[in-house]
Amino acid sequence: MENKTTNHFRVGIITASDLGAAGKREDTSAAVIRECMESAGGEIIAYKLLPDDREALAEAMRMMADTLKADLILTTGGTGLSSRDVTPEATLDVAERMVPGISEAMRTQSMQVTNRAMLTRGISCIRGRTLIINLPGSPKAVRECLEVVLPVLEHALEVLKDQARHCAR
Ligand code: MTE
Repeated sequence: MENKTTNHFRVGIITASDLGAAGKREDTSAAVIRECMESAGGEIIAYKLLPDDREALAEAMRMMADTLKADLILTTGGTGLSSRDVTPEATLDVAERMVPGISEAMRTQSMQVTNRAMLTRGISCIRGRTLIINLPGSPKAVRECLEVVLPVLEHALEVLKDQARHCAR
């Protein structure tokens, strides 16, 4: 039987969307995250669709990291410049250590597709043994950003769990 434990990881998804939470917009971005993560060996252990509310978003992140022990939390939406976009601030509220390179890489790569990529304020960080990454809100942007992260994700999660300390190939 195939051993899938090596690349199995537990993922929480949080969508920040006033319209989605009010039932006025279908959450297709979370569906893209689910599809990408499952094909990479991830298991979706939690999903929350929340309004753009800083405290509610932070609380969902704390719950998924501290109680559910998710390996990875992916948020989508709320990273732009409008007054309702507070996902990066909610993420900073729960962050223990920053991982700026992930968000830098996503923005840099995404600039090849659209110069509007510079308008996402998303951050990446660690809380306990959980990696948290903010993705922009549109399903297209989610797919583009995940393509940047996926090649390094397994190694990132192994190092985060102290299962790999040496990065030599
Ligand atoms: N990144 C990628 N890869 N592709 C995109 O289409 N859209 C940008 C940016 N990042 C985009 C992207 C746009 S138009 C905005 S306004 C910001 O993400 C913020 O999006 P959000 O407020 O939905 O999180």
